[in-house]
Order: sequence, then structure tokens, then C-alpha cells
Amino acid sequence: TRRITVRDIAAAKHRGEKWPMLTAYDAMTASVFDEAGIPVLLVGDSMGNCHLGYDSTVPVTMDEITMLSAAVVRGTKRALIVGDLPFGSYQEGPTQALRSATRLVKDAGVGAVKLEGGERSAHQIERLVSAGIPVMAHVGLTPQSVNAFGGYPVQGRGEEAAQQLLRDAKAVQDAGAFAVVLELVPAELAAEVTTALHVPTVGIGAGPHCDAQVLVWTDMAGMTAGRVPRFVKQYAQLRDVLSGAATAFADEVVGGVYPAAEHSFH
Ligand code: KIV
Ligand code: NA
Repeated sequence: TRRITVRDIAAAKHRGEKWPMLTAYDAMTASVFDEAGIPVLLVGDSMGNCHLGYDSTVPVTMDEITMLSAAVVRGTKRALIVGDLPFGSYQEGPTQALRSATRLVKDAGVGAVKLEGGERSAHQIERLVSAGIPVMAHVGLTPQSVNAFGGYPVQGRGEEAAQQLLRDAKAVQDAGAFAVVLELVPAELAAEVTTALHVPTVGIGAGPHCDAQVLVWTDMAGMTAGRVPRFVKQYAQLRDVLSGAATAFADEVVGGVYPAAEHSFH
């Protein structure tokens, strides 16, 4: 088996095929998704919220993304692994972006990187692409800007905002991005962007008309504690399953039931 490449991704849009993407933050979980046939895995800076215990993506560092990306690469054989560039690792400009992306490619072995921003990030994308690093762009709600947004509001509402989103999507495509994440935008606008672009759109909270769909795996599998966003569908209740296993183990240890004879050596 060989890995999925950005050329396969381009061919899928040509053929009108939709594809799924999930986040992954460790080798074991990544191997499950790889064996399940998920073609693209994102080592998202959402690791801040759902893996590292931060309350946003803002504190996530290059060291953290690099270490966990390397684990996801080691745990997989077939998926294209995309490493997220964390906040502060590319905003200074194309040179800083290239230094950060090069580290993810060389030290972690990712096949592509992702960064946030439309027109504002076009120069960074151009530099990475001309250095031979495939880039997935990310427009609409960009969580690294949570302090500027004052939360996580739906983007692209109203004619002016919609036109800006379309300009952002075209700018990152023109800069050479191989795909564009559309986060939290109205379904009709996401459909319009998807038709306007020749590279695939990857929707999250962006309706059914995108070329691909991405979810944070802990949301998708029901591992996240408490409320999940409205656009999430939970395909399992993993938190309950795992909690049940831990409780059963605890009860059996306290009750002297585990370990039994078959678990013991004589
Ligand atoms: O970090 C992340 O998980 C992401 C996806 C939600 C697109 O950026
Ligand atoms: Na992200």
C-alpha cells in the first residue's frame, strides 16, 4: 500500500467523489481510522481542547504538534497526514511559515500542512507550495482568532461577508492550496464556494455540499464531555463505553474478582 497523496485528492474532485477526514492525535487512534479507510487525517490544533486540556487552540506549540504528528504518521500506512500549523508559527510571514512547515515535514513526516486565513495568509501558502509542501487552507471560522471573534460565531452571513469569504477561498486556491476547509459557514454559501473552486472544499459546520467533511474525532465518536456543537453527529458514545469499562475494572478490583485464576501465573 502507498499513501494517499494530494494528487489523489485532486482526482477525487474531478470524479465528483466525496471523502471523509478526521482529526487524530496519537498513533493508536490513528491506526484505527487508517484501517477504517479514512483517507486524510488531520493532526489538528484542536488537540489543545480535546487532547492537551487547554481551553482553546491558541496555546498549542510547534513542539506539541510535531510530537503528535510524528505519532500519527507512525501509526498509519495509507492516510495522507496533514499537520496543523499552530497559532504563532506562521503569522510573522512566509519565512517563518516555511521554517515551521519544514519542521513538520522533516521531523514528523507529514505529507501536508494546514494553516488558517484567506487573503491574509496567501503569501505564506505561496512560499510553502513553491518549496514543495502541500497546503490545506482554512477559512470562515478560524479558531486561532477566537480572541478577535469573541467566540465561535457562524461566518459569511450577509452579502458583504459572503463576498469576502468567496475572495478568501479564491485567494488561497490561487496561492496554491490543494484543499480549503470551510468552517461554520451557511450551507448555501459553502455550496457556492465549492462550485467556484477547482480544489476541494472540506466542510465542518458548512452543510452537505462540500467536497469533503471533517470532524474532530472525539466529537464524532462521543468522547467529548458535555455539549458538542450543533453540526456534530455522534456516531458512537465512546465516553460512556470507556467509563463503563473503567468502572467495571474498579469494581472487580475492589471486590476481589479481578484477577481470576486465568489471569494469574503459578
Ligand atoms: O484543528 C482542527 O481540528 C481543525 C479542523 C476542525 C478543521 O482545524
Ligand atoms: Na485547527
